[in-house]
Amino acid sequence: MIVIGIESSCDETSVAILKNGKITANLISSQDFHKKFGGVVPELSSRAHLQIVNPLVKEALLKSSISLNDVELITATAGPGLIGALLVGLTYAKGLSYSLNKPFIGVNHIEGHIFSGFLMEEKPVFPFIALVVSGGHTLLLLVKSFTEIVKLGSTVDDAAGEAFDKVSKMLGLGYPGGPKIQAAAIKGDQNKINFPIAQLKDPYNFSFSGIKTSVLRYVQSLNGNMNEQIINDIAASFQFAVVQALIRKLEKAIQNFNIKSISVVGGVAANRLLRESAGELGNKHDVKLIIPAFEYCGDNAAMIAFRGESLYAAGIRDTLESKPFPGLSENHFSDGL
Ligand code: KG4
Ligand code: ZN
Repeated sequence: MIVIGIESSCDETSVAILKNGKITANLISSQDFHKKFGGVVPELSSRAHLQIVNPLVKEALLKSSISLNDVELITATAGPGLIGALLVGLTYAKGLSYSLNKPFIGVNHIEGHIFSGFLMEEKPVFPFIALVVSGGHTLLLLVKSFTEIVKLGSTVDDAAGEAFDKVSKMLGLGYPGGPKIQAAAIKGDQNKINFPIAQLKDPYNFSFSGIKTSVLRYVQSLNGNMNEQIINDIAASFQFAVVQALIRKLEKAIQNFNIKSISVVGGVAANRLLRESAGELGNKHDVKLIIPAFEYCGDNAAMIAFRGESLYAAGIRDTLESKPFPGLSENHFSDGL
């Protein structure tokens, strides 16, 4: 089966082709111009998606040596995300579906991330624990099948990626914060400052606003006496605290469920310390860690195509009337056990 995936939920336009289970193109165009605003400007994002989506589709077809008529399933991110941005990819995909008379599936972006480990050579085995760490979400899940996802916990305030972005701004390192903090942290001492890791009653929930506030207090206490070494130390100590918080909850889930694989996915899964720490955790408990390659961690259409195909294979059908959704769609999610 030949599937096209289109992703336009935030500041990346991406088009992918999935041909008989193999990704033959995964083109990602990042809207770097948002940097100067310190965050994503929704209207500018929509306009940029509109300009690039068609050329990217043409390039992806060319790269995969196929024509539009060969495409058998059209998938696009339906939400959550910026509504104007979502509408661009979604409407484009529906237009393709209508004109080619081929089925269309709207995909939940978070579900795209959850199953992104399946794009790797070694795939997760059901049931598995997924830790989703992105700019907008932090979720711990028990994934029983392609259509049964049990929510164990989530952040009660900021998402992990959001905390990286906010702290990066505080330190004057710029946007997006994750890669900037990681680069500064390499030159810093992670044991220099002891930023607090939230202890929550619920075993699987997360909180990152405390760490963020204590970084702010620390920066304020320096009264402007910042230098590169202090910034690097703060970055390293902050990164260490966030990764510890994530790993602790992941370990609890590994101990409490009979699973053989764990998968860490989403933009923050590109973080080297998190990748190493999750790998060590997997070895300690003898569970396999499936972590996507870098190009499948951040927003990409390969994961959307894969997720769309898995839904289609499970007998799920969509219509051209389906609407974009800005929040988390709960279709395949259930709370607790
Ligand atoms: O999944 P994603 O690309 O977009 C959303 O769906 O939100 O995640 C973006 C988030 C941003 O907050 C970014 O700062 C973070 O992922 N990120 C990282 C790293 N690379 C990207 N966080 C920590 N370390 C990284 N290397
Ligand atoms: Zn994402």
